[in-house]
Amino acid sequence: METTDFAVAIMAAGKGTRLKSKRPKVLHEVGGRALLMHVIAAAKSLVPAEAIYCIVGHEAERVQAAVAPTGVNFVLQEVQRGTGHALQILKAALEISTAELPKHLLVLSGDVPLIRPETLAELCDLHLRERAAMTILTAVPDDPTGYGRVLRRSAGSPEVMAIVEQKSLKPDQLAAPEINSGIYCFETAALFSKLDLLSTDNPHGEFYLTDVAAMLVADKRRVVAHQAASVDEVLGANTIAEMMHLDQSMRSATARRLMAQGVTIFRPDTCVIDAEVEVAPDTVIEPFVQLLGATKIGAECLIRSYSVVQHSTIGEGVTIRNGCILDHAEVGNGAIIGPYAHLRPESRIGEQAHVGNFCETKKTTLGRGSKANHLTYLGDAIIGEGVNVGAGVITCNYDGVHKHTTTIGDRVFVGSDTTLVAPISLGDDAYVGAGSCLTKPVPAGALALTRPPQVTKEGWTATRRAELAARKK
Ligand code: UD1
Ligand code: CA
Repeated sequence: METTDFAVAIMAAGKGTRLKSKRPKVLHEVGGRALLMHVIAAAKSLVPAEAIYCIVGHEAERVQAAVAPTGVNFVLQEVQRGTGHALQILKAALEISTAELPKHLLVLSGDVPLIRPETLAELCDLHLRERAAMTILTAVPDDPTGYGRVLRRSAGSPEVMAIVEQKSLKPDQLAAPEINSGIYCFETAALFSKLDLLSTDNPHGEFYLTDVAAMLVADKRRVVAHQAASVDEVLGANTIAEMMHLDQSMRSATARRLMAQGVTIFRPDTCVIDAEVEVAPDTVIEPFVQLLGATKIGAECLIRSYSVVQHSTIGEGVTIRNGCILDHAEVGNGAIIGPYAHLRPESRIGEQAHVGNFCETKKTTLGRGSKANHLTYLGDAIIGEGVNVGAGVITCNYDGVHKHTTTIGDRVFVGSDTTLVAPISLGDDAYVGAGSCLTKPVPAGALALTRPPQVTKEGWTATRRAELAARKK
């Protein structure tokens, strides 16, 4: 499709009163991504960012900061007086800033996030084919209550007479099944010729963009409707409940995409998987797993129940046992994590390494084949290959003011219950006796221990018990 004649307007200035939330509506998330980011991504699949105009208003700075990296333009609608007013503001901005207006305008709603690029392309195609002044994307959901209704000239006709908002529906129109999605194509000149004629004479006291339909029809201009193939992709999110419905719809689509690519997901309805997550074939995901953000998982992994993996990269053949939390972590091929391990940001777990029960790592590299299997904290540490970190070992990385590094060479054995007071380094092949508190470097191949000598008193228990028994008499 030829989209060079199109610019895209995204209406995103509204407050979202019905959400009862401090956060601006378009920054609420479905599928792990802000509503507005979804809409911008769909727009960018058709036109370059320079041709996208995002109309912001309520908490404009916050909204703008959140989506600025996409490179779109912003237009400020300081007071929000309705969707028609949003386009009036855009009109004024375009007339000042561009020598030549775009021939057509695709208008999107910032709160209709599941819209697919294919559907937008179909809409634009139809708009051009029909030589329409306005083309409206519609759907027929189970319950149309709350939406504006699209009234066609006659059943089956592509031609539209008007869009009537819910509160203005006459009793005989209440059952009208076809809803306005809030997504339209306009011939820019036709739209702009009507915007200044809109009135606020309606139950909301707002300028309705939807009134433009009947105004164009009155001028004998062609206004047509295009029904979307799936209902969910045009549903709006005015309440938290609607938002969560869209979230579920998007996540089940993501799970279906992964399963189609060869990933096994048991009880996908219990898993929370963000849209951008990638998983390679033959990986198995158990119930109640969350995979969030830009997470990538290799082939033949097993992710067991109750684990949460976010913004992390997992190699091939990795097992993540139950109840692990991984955040901005990297895990090499064949590693085993958990149960109940917490890998915090900048944890890099090498190939075939193990991080086991109740272990925490932060900004730590654990070399190939190294093991920290029980009750350990490793922070700001660089650990070599083939190292054994005993149960209960702790890197004391923080002196109350600064963080310090622990460096451990290859094949080191750190006995259980050792505290390593950083900064400290242990050379290759060093041994540390259990229960030590080390404050000084250990050279390669050396044994270090700080254990007080053991005292053993033979027969002590019997003597003690006899004493106690004598006292009781
Ligand atoms: C709108 C349509 C309705 C349609 C529904 C689909 C109108 C009058 N009604 O109703 O026919 O069925 O969408 O979801 O257009 N916005 C601004 N500036 C404003 C007001 C709104 O930018 O002054 C933005 C909002 O942030 C939102 C979008 O426009 O992203 C739609 O506004 P909203 O108030 O949600 O309209 P609806 O009542 O849902
Ligand atoms: Ca809405």
